[in-house]
Amino acid sequence: MGCIKRFFFQISPMDFSGFYKLPVKDRLAKLKEAGKISAEDERLLLDGDALKMEVADRMVENVVGRFHLPFAVVPGFLVNGKEYVVPMVIEEPSVVAAASNGAKLARESGGFTADADEPIMVGQLQIMNPKRGALARLDENREKIFAKGKEFAAGVERYGGGLKAIGFREVKTGRGKMVLVEFEVDVRDIMGANTVNTIVEGAAPLVQEIAGGTVRLRILSNLAVKRKARARCVWKKEVIGADAVEGVLDGYEMAANDIYRCSTHNKGIMNGIDAVAVATGNDWRAVEAGAHSFAALGGYHPLTRYSKDAGGNLVGEIELPLAVGTVGGAININPVAQVGQKILGAKSSRELSMVMAAVGLAQNFAALRALGTEGISKGHMKLHAKNLAVIAGAHTFEEIDRVVEKMRESGIYTVENAKRIFLELKK
Ligand code: MEV
Repeated sequence: MGCIKRFFFQISPMDFSGFYKLPVKDRLAKLKEAGKISAEDERLLLDGDALKMEVADRMVENVVGRFHLPFAVVPGFLVNGKEYVVPMVIEEPSVVAAASNGAKLARESGGFTADADEPIMVGQLQIMNPKRGALARLDENREKIFAKGKEFAAGVERYGGGLKAIGFREVKTGRGKMVLVEFEVDVRDIMGANTVNTIVEGAAPLVQEIAGGTVRLRILSNLAVKRKARARCVWKKEVIGADAVEGVLDGYEMAANDIYRCSTHNKGIMNGIDAVAVATGNDWRAVEAGAHSFAALGGYHPLTRYSKDAGGNLVGEIELPLAVGTVGGAININPVAQVGQKILGAKSSRELSMVMAAVGLAQNFAALRALGTEGISKGHMKLHAKNLAVIAGAHTFEEIDRVVEKMRESGIYTVENAKRIFLELKK
């Protein structure tokens, strides 16, 4: 997994203890107090109309409405010595609580260390049935093709990025020989899909002239292996307990040796990473595609790794491609995504990816710890009970709390039970 370099930032302690117990308005007040959001950001978070219909109608085709999801935050993520409040947009109960739990326990040993590659994305150009000697001719014309690609990279050059390299390879397929031309682009703080596609499309006519054959696909690859992020954390044996250390190691070993478990293991990691991707206006499908295709390299494997150090502490590591941006794309259009970016406060796409890697690791650790010891149903169902109470008809906080309490006492977390309890309370 490569060695983790340390990037140290200033520590700014903020007191978020008991945050989860507060009502929404007090949580927002805490975020304002901590300088994470302004009064206008608060208004946007509370406003069901933050993404205006006219804007939504321009984002995609055939719009008939907008779709809402809960926007949560996890304070107390310590990554490279910097405190982060991590925004998460997700519909699934327990994910936010699990990330919070993993982050809290990580603090006992200094949090996470993380690093990330330079933000290099790769664009691919496919030439079907090229003329004989195409590969050699492309290589001879490397500088010319590079210069042509560079003509279309001006946008990103302005921000210090640009076309960095090109490569050629030949692939034999069922439909004949194809040559792939690959463009490596430093996209800086954007996700980069449009920039890369523009460069690849721009260079295509020249490549066709040189190689012959038919130019077909011109598109970036979501297997962003040159844009990986890594995070590492030591969870102390004294803090989590020796049995939890063994439980996580056993759970990890199952994922490393069984693809059915590995799929769920990686899904749990992506629960956290996707939630941050959505909250920051990033393309979570690209993140998903990158993560799982990376996991499949050399045989599908877990994106995290665990071991025990000499002191019996649990060492967790994660490595995965993370093609995410802090500007551009939907981020510039969706005002709530901008609030998400502001709350997280990453100064670059690399910094954002480091935090996201740490979130994925925390998420996975918390899931494995619960699964390897008491199981997840207990905690999960407690949270799920709130949803059941609402489905049963409870509206006010008081009604919801009372239904949840009664469900807890009965230990039966079903819609039927929630409805029965709610009806009893109404009598
Ligand atoms: C549920 O969305 C995610 C988990 O299944 C992950 C895991 O099993 O590691 C809890």
